[in-house]
Amino acid sequence: MIRIDSVTKRYPDGTVAVDRLSLDIPDRSITVLVGPSGCGKTTTLRMINRMVEPSEGAILIDGVDSRQQPVNTLRRGMGYVIQNAGLFQHRTIVDNIATVPRMLGWSKDKARARARELMERVGLDASFAKRYPYQLSGGQQQRVGVARALAADPPVLLMDEPFSAVDPVVRKGLQDELLRIQAELGKTIVFVTHDIDEAVKLGTMVAVLRTGGRLAQFAPPAELLSDPADAFVEDFLGADRGIRRLSFFSSAGLELLTAPVVAIDATAEQIAARGAAESPYVLVTGLDGRPLGWSEPDRLTAGQIDVGRLLACGRPFVAGQDSLRAALDCAVLSPTGWAVAVDHEGRAAGVVSQDSIAEAIRGAHAAGREEPKTIKAGARKVIR
Ligand SMILES: Nc1ncnc2c1ncn2[C@@H]1O[C@H](COP(=O)(O)OP(=O)(O)OP(=O)(O)O)[C@@H](O)[C@H]1O
Ligand SMILES: [Mg+2]
Repeated sequence: MIRIDSVTKRYPDGTVAVDRLSLDIPDRSITVLVGPSGCGKTTTLRMINRMVEPSEGAILIDGVDSRQQPVNTLRRGMGYVIQNAGLFQHRTIVDNIATVPRMLGWSKDKARARARELMERVGLDASFAKRYPYQLSGGQQQRVGVARALAADPPVLLMDEPFSAVDPVVRKGLQDELLRIQAELGKTIVFVTHDIDEAVKLGTMVAVLRTGGRLAQFAPPAELLSDPADAFVEDFLGADRGIRRLSFFSSAGLELLTAPVVAIDATAEQIAARGAAESPYVLVTGLDGRPLGWSEPDRLTAGQIDVGRLLACGRPFVAGQDSLRAALDCAVLSPTGWAVAVDHEGRAAGVVSQDSIAEAIRGAHAAGREEPKTIKAGARKVIR
């Protein structure tokens, strides 16, 4: 849908902000531009909606040179979200969101109704409608910014570091929300960040830029993590890219053992039988099936299991849904070295050893070598 074709931006003072950049931005997916400060991310984004005009090269929207369209028509099809939301301070939340529909000539009632619908979509309580921006937290204001950009239902969203001014917990919430909105609405999103974790989490495709506005690599995040193009990209990805890459491999292939699982009301015979199983420990679950903790079987007395004396079982992973990274994390957090798998209701589905997880990781590597360009099963999204 958006093709950046050998675009250069030279500012009047001679600064080359973007240097012969070519990118094919896929339709209905999130493309992330990431790179160090000053590498030309904002300039690139602004060239897409012509807030900045390229010095050389062209940007094609659906095959048509963006300069052939009146700039207002072009921008109407592109919502724009910036850091700190950039809300109109003297307008209420509902009127901020209704801005573009009003500009397009919608009636006040229709525009406000649309605004309220969008508030719900971005997870804002309806009671905020009549407040002013200063009466909202930073994260809430950012949601208003996203709602405002979506108001006229543009096919494209341009987002320039929209979540960088909020704390990590709120940020994670906003990221999850954006993935959900994207899945529901199928927008084409170009998202700028300098946070590589955010890029890997959100991007269907990630473009890593280096200073001077040159493209270092353009790839799906899993490929970026497995095959960084050069030392610059590798450095930018950070130290634990191997562990982070595991988040693209499903835990579905892990073989779960159910034999070492006992309920808190287990009989002496049941405990003894479990004790003979492969694991040197047994996992004790509540009557509802939720994991409570680990114990060596000979330390358990039927009818008198003391939950307070069990060993912690880390944060269980959801079998088949969570990644190998989550399974490994659970295993290394558990003093027994075993990870606990749960079903969607949080009931213990089985246990798995560090060794089995390590074997699955080796298997993932082998699979990765066969088809290096494919995002494996269990990845959150595929390229359409
Ligand atoms: N109007 C301008 N005139 C001259 N140089 C500019 C202008 N705007 C940006 N630049 C320069 O162009 C380069 C790229 O700037 P840009 O804002 O695109 O970077 P960025 O990747 O968005 O950085 P950041 O992560 O800090 O936001 C920088 O060196 C910047 O100083
Ligand atoms: Mg910028």
